[in-house]
Amino acid sequence: MLRIFLLSFSYLAMFLNVMASAYFSELFEPIWAPDHITTQEDHVILNLDSATGCGFMSKNKYLIGKISAQIKLVQGDSAGTVTAYYLTADGPNHDELDFEFLGNVSGEPYLVQTNVFVNGTGDREQRHSLWFDPTTDFHNYTFFWNHHFIIFQVDQVPIRVFEKKEEMGAQFPKTQAMGIHGSLWNGDDWATQGGRVKTNWSHSPFVVTFGSFEVDACAVSSGIDDAVAKCVKPGKFWWDKSSNKKLDKNQRRQLKMVQDKYLVYDYCKDTARFTQMPRECQN
Ligand SMILES: *[C@@H]1O[C@H](CO)[C@@H](O)[C@H](O)[C@H]1NC(C)=O
Ligand SMILES: *[C@@H]1O[C@H](CO)[C@@H](O)[C@H](O)[C@H]1NC(C)=O
Ligand SMILES: *[C@@H]1O[C@H](CO)[C@@H](O)[C@H](O)[C@H]1NC(C)=O
Ligand SMILES: *[C@@H]1O[C@H](CO)[C@@H](O)[C@H](O)[C@H]1NC(C)=O
Repeated sequence: MLRIFLLSFSYLAMFLNVMASAYFSELFEPIWAPDHITTQEDHVILNLDSATGCGFMSKNKYLIGKISAQIKLVQGDSAGTVTAYYLTADGPNHDELDFEFLGNVSGEPYLVQTNVFVNGTGDREQRHSLWFDPTTDFHNYTFFWNHHFIIFQVDQVPIRVFEKKEEMGAQFPKTQAMGIHGSLWNGDDWATQGGRVKTNWSHSPFVVTFGSFEVDACAVSSGIDDAVAKCVKPGKFWWDKSSNKKLDKNQRRQLKMVQDKYLVYDYCKDTARFTQMPRECQN
């Protein structure tokens, strides 16, 4: 039942130039160390060992929309490992939106780092702890991106909102279509407790599963479509509806709760790091 619904929805959606699908191989392909990747119908399993990590990428790129995946992170000792789930364009002036999951020793919490790159510049990290153990079950991680803001959501809860503040001179990603990537790699020079805890290879392979992908975004075929001409048509797509111009009351309450209880680092508060605070940090 569910499968039939998803398939017919996906045909309808393709007709509308918007895609939704649960199938890994329709949307993605392995791009790094395919022998460390196991694909199933709607899931993909990534393995990291001392030889290599691995990763996959979407066949299309996307400009604006909603992209989500369910992810189950490395169980047990995940110290040193980084699971990255991100959208990125190509080249030195690329735009990029990141979820990066920083592993930890058994029993200590994972951190979720989010970042936004515009025109090649990132340095906009926030880090959050989570209100659940992300290694025992699948949880939903979503990018919602329109002409007003980017919302990073965890199980529907907004954990971060990056607003478009061009009137303040801040930049916002809005012209570059981005591919969807997932990868698992060794980041033990920085990821866990500031790089003090290294990956313990006797616990490898480290395993992460991504699944239940949903892509409801404006798809762009590399070399064929002009991303802006195709996707930047205010009013054409559901994500531009006025109901999507700001968070609703419940989302604002949730965001505040998360920022109060789970935010552990915010670049906008890091006065030691920046001589001049990034423009979007001003209220
Ligand atoms: C992007 O960055 C390059 C330098 O890396 C700069 O020349 C260009 O003007 C920037 N574009 C925008 C839209 O800010
Ligand atoms: C994940 O969350 C997004 C955003 O709320 C939602 O659109 C999507 O359907 C969810 N995916 C699953 C598999 O529940
Ligand atoms: C790992 O656990 C330590 C101790 O609880 C904590 O300080 C740190 O923020 C956690 N996460 C990472 C990624 O280091
Ligand atoms: C790595 O894990 C093994 C097996 O659990 C353990 O015996 C060893 O002490 C660990 N190494 C470090 C550096 O923690």
